[in-house]
Amino acid sequence: MKLDTTNIQKTLQQPIVLIGMMGTGKTHLGKLLANELNMEFFDSDQVVEKRGGLTINEIFELYGEERFRQAEEKTVLELLNAKPSIIATGGGAPMNAQILGAIKKQSISIWLNSNIETIYERIKQTKNRPLLKTDNPKETLSALLDQRKDTYAKANIKIDINANNADKALQEIIEAISELI
Ligand code: S3P
Repeated sequence: MKLDTTNIQKTLQQPIVLIGMMGTGKTHLGKLLANELNMEFFDSDQVVEKRGGLTINEIFELYGEERFRQAEEKTVLELLNAKPSIIATGGGAPMNAQILGAIKKQSISIWLNSNIETIYERIKQTKNRPLLKTDNPKETLSALLDQRKDTYAKANIKIDINANNADKALQEIIEAISELI
């Protein structure tokens, strides 16, 4: 799908940052958006993995969450300060005050919001989310969303992702960005 994004491409001078829980499609939609806007795409988790030569799981297992959060902070801040791009962040990134401050100051932020059922259905088969290695991953997800939703709500734009319809979500995102800039 090609939407008319000429105006956004002419006007936009900031990065666009996607925030929200794991499994809401930040990476997938980020790539689609980057393609529509002719911008580069980065997934902060993938950058952390590439730099460290380790998967997110391995970083958590070998060095612990704290170390991952430090790498995440460094990476997201660098991406925000580089040439404007589309940045998909890990679900916990905006809980870091430095990251949140920089997102608010330097970017257009988009919260991809979804309910726990949808998120759980999407990620229950995947094994690459260390925070969900608990007895009851669904409950863990729900607790995380409770802790995080007020922070996510600070985004400039909120998009509800409750059906598997990436094209519709992409269109909503593009319309919301057009209205904002
Ligand atoms: C995390 C989400 C993950 C990854 C890490 C921690 C979180 O990213 O950064 O496992 O705290 O919610 P995704 O949101 O891309 O799955």
